[in-house]
Amino acid sequence: MLPNELVHLKEQGRPITILTAWDSISAAIVEEAGADVVLVGDSLGMVVLGHSSTLPVTIEQLIHHTQAVGRGLSKPQANRPLVICDMPFLSYQCGEDQAVEAAGSLIKNSCATGVKIEGGEPEIIKIISRLVRMGIPVMGHLGLTPQSVNCLGYKQQAKDEQSQEKLLSQAFELENAGCFSIVIEHVPSKIADTLQKQLKLPIIGIGAGLKCDGQVRVTADLLGLSKKQPPFSKPLIDGKQLFINTLKSWIDQQKNHE
Ligand code: KIV
Repeated sequence: MLPNELVHLKEQGRPITILTAWDSISAAIVEEAGADVVLVGDSLGMVVLGHSSTLPVTIEQLIHHTQAVGRGLSKPQANRPLVICDMPFLSYQCGEDQAVEAAGSLIKNSCATGVKIEGGEPEIIKIISRLVRMGIPVMGHLGLTPQSVNCLGYKQQAKDEQSQEKLLSQAFELENAGCFSIVIEHVPSKIADTLQKQLKLPIIGIGAGLKCDGQVRVTADLLGLSKKQPPFSKPLIDGKQLFINTLKSWIDQQKNHE
């Protein structure tokens, strides 16, 4: 699937599902479960690498993990989920040339077909437009943007009318710059609903209510494996306890020579 085909899914009213993966095992599970898109998110930094934010993640780490994700996918190319990779903090904020180089190296050295970039400020819009013109598909990301944690925290965004208008206008800018979809994180469902109705490109929500064109989740959150569970992403199972119990019973068997 090509990124632009997500727009057709929106037109058909077929909900889009996106799950994160960080290595070949998680990629194989997410592919087998049937996700449309595998996101190699920079949540990797918190979920897998144990950092307290996504800020320390590097482009080299994302290339390394996206390569592992590629090795985990096994369906024929035509039936594989689309792989999108996050551009980490400081890989695109320093200017268009650096952004093209960083995004290009992700695409060139891994199975990623496109990249995801946070924010909708004028500088970011210019960078996105350049990347798209250079043939690199871009997914936008508005609302709670974890790379801005030191300015915004992890709080819900766009709560008042003024910030909702700003979000709406940034979303239109992203559409005009050529993004193929936008992730919208931790905002009131009312604004996600408005975006879904007014934009042609798919709106993918996380903590943004149900009226989006699709949903994205950090796989470790859904499986109950994350150290810190976001309030808007409830686990479906207590995976950590399940794994502990399973391993504990193996260890007990060994100790008892069973
Ligand atoms: O890094 C990530 O996993 C993300 C999702 C939360 C959308 O950006």
